[in-house]
Amino acid sequence: MSQSKEVIIIGGGVSGLGMAAQLRRNLGHNNFTLYEKSDNIGGTWWHNRYPACACDIPSHLYSYSFAMKNDWSTIFPGRGELHEYFSSVAQRYNILPHCRFNAMCVSLVWDDVRCLWVCTFQDTISGEVFKREAPVVASAVGALDRPYTPDIEGSNFFQGKIFHSATWDDSFQAKGKKIAVLGNGASATQFVPELVRHVGSKGKVIQFVRSAHWWTERGNPKYSEAFKLALKHIPLAARLYRIILAWQLESIFPSFYMNSRGAAMRQKIRENTFHYVNTAAPPEYCEILKPDYEPGCKRRISTATYLASLHSPQMHLTKDSAVKIGPNHIETASGQCHAVDVIIYATGFQTQKWLSTIQIRGIECKDLHSIWDAAGGAEAYKGTVVSGFPNFFIFYRPNAGTGQHSVIFHSECQINFTCQLLRPVLAGNSEMIMVKPEAQRRDLSWVHGKLQHLVFNSGCQSWWMDPVTERNTFIYPDPMWMYWARTIFPRWSDFVLRRGGRSSGLFGRVFWIMLVSVGVAAFAVNSASVDVKKVVAMVVGWSSQAVKWR
Ligand SMILES: Cc1cc2nc3c(=O)[nH]c(=O)nc-3n(C[C@H](O)[C@H](O)[C@H](O)COP(=O)(O)OP(=O)(O)OC[C@H]3O[C@@H](n4cnc5c(N)ncnc54)[C@H](O)[C@@H]3O)c2cc1C
Ligand SMILES: NC(=O)c1ccc[n+]([C@@H]2O[C@H](COP(=O)([O-])OP(=O)(O)OC[C@H]3O[C@@H](n4cnc5c(N)ncnc54)[C@H](OP(=O)(O)O)[C@@H]3O)[C@@H](O)[C@H]2O)c1
Repeated sequence: MSQSKEVIIIGGGVSGLGMAAQLRRNLGHNNFTLYEKSDNIGGTWWHNRYPACACDIPSHLYSYSFAMKNDWSTIFPGRGELHEYFSSVAQRYNILPHCRFNAMCVSLVWDDVRCLWVCTFQDTISGEVFKREAPVVASAVGALDRPYTPDIEGSNFFQGKIFHSATWDDSFQAKGKKIAVLGNGASATQFVPELVRHVGSKGKVIQFVRSAHWWTERGNPKYSEAFKLALKHIPLAARLYRIILAWQLESIFPSFYMNSRGAAMRQKIRENTFHYVNTAAPPEYCEILKPDYEPGCKRRISTATYLASLHSPQMHLTKDSAVKIGPNHIETASGQCHAVDVIIYATGFQTQKWLSTIQIRGIECKDLHSIWDAAGGAEAYKGTVVSGFPNFFIFYRPNAGTGQHSVIFHSECQINFTCQLLRPVLAGNSEMIMVKPEAQRRDLSWVHGKLQHLVFNSGCQSWWMDPVTERNTFIYPDPMWMYWARTIFPRWSDFVLRRGGRSSGLFGRVFWIMLVSVGVAAFAVNSASVDVKKVVAMVVGWSSQAVKWR
């Protein structure tokens, strides 16, 4: 692989790090730079520091297939252990010297003459703006990186601490505080029991619930030393365990179909969750905690501690909504006033308007966000490449993800797919690669057609759906092993590969077009059965198409 072409990776989370490692492992390519807006790698697992933050996909599957770890402490380890793992991967593949931290990408503009991306970054500390150029850009900015906080009147005048779960205030001590938590998704379900545990007899936690979730009960057993040794020393044991875990998650997929089999599986989930709520939560909260939408329509939440924590006299759950914030209180829709010292938003992330912090202009200066706005949401061929945006790759969305599987698994599929597509470009055989518009249309029409028959589109408002256009921009409509199978080998006929720079390419094409034109014209004038005007029109059409694609 020629090392002359630089690959710029934006984002140092699981996907960016995975891409960097696979460039090395898969392609032997060492010319890359990873730009990260924060001061460390790890993405989600660096930014989220709330108490009890942990993964909910078994770590033997929530890890890279090429960097398996046999000694995870528990099935669902905490952020500390996860971040340590990602740091160790970065060290193993010598990624850190290629990282430029505190660098926020703000724009990407394709230069069609020189076949490269002009990338503009801003240093997040000094504010300095700088430019870099590279033929290939991979965006790994994540889908859950921009916290969402509702715009509640008066929040600017609140005198206590106020922060989002994803930007946790490390100096905050719960003891003796009156704490308001807005939202009850996966993050709140993890940290609320910790607040309850630490708030003490003089403190209070009030949680504002907008909708219920499909909670499942699960513990977090520790792995025994014997098990760790078995994975380490028995050939293929770790791989087999990983396959079993993946298979367990895939077995949930049929419950997503809106058919009789899916309905029967969802009924079972419904009964289990209702039973769990009825037996584990205080009776006064049971109705608040039972979802009224189909199981699976939003990501299910597993917990060992949340429902039990609601029994604490320090805990209060309400369906009332916060409508106004005063200097030291919250007013609700029903007219109640709650005195609070701290407000924690556990209200999730801005998941639509994806990549919107970066201006992205492709061929003919077309703006990616305008294209996506016109389409009703983000879209890409196999969730990874967009027509009109050559040598540009995106991870963790759109429509490449899953409601029940490991994000690392599908990110790896996208990374492998990207590496395959990059082979001719990095080897110097081609200047650029781009998906054909008709191939993209075909893929998207299949994705959105299939989604109509799945539970994700059954009417609830999840963060996977654009709330305005109601387009599901996140979910892949088949089990993940099928996504894997469909991304191992690119269908090369779906892509345009361009050889050579503008001048030589254009010259070559013009030469060939002229040669063919002369041949066709000679044939036409010698053949009575050919309509000369039609042939000329056809040749002109080919020529302009060829020049467009040069
Ligand atoms: C609290 C929490 C728990 C989760 N638990 C699980 C789980 O158990 N299982 C699971 O499968 N998934 C889970 N997820 C989803 C999780 O986001 C993914 O698993 C995974 O971490 C995504 O990795 P990523 O690299 O694609 O994105 P991220 O981890 O979000 O990384 C993106 C990186 O890009 C950087 N960045 C963003 N914009 C720019 C820019 N313009 N310029 C430069 N850098 C930029 C960010 O700072 C960030 O470091 C969880 C998410 C959250 C928030
Ligand atoms: N490993 C894990 O267990 C884990 C932990 C954290 C996060 N995650 C991942 O990250 C994703 C995001 O998790 P998250 O918990 O941060 O966000 P989330 O799942 O989107 O939950 C946000 C919650 O806030 C509620 N909300 C929004 N605005 C509100 C308002 N004004 N008042 C009251 N409630 C409001 C939402 O209600 P509605 O439901 O009505 O919109 C929802 O319950 C998850 O889906 C999951 O993929 C995983």
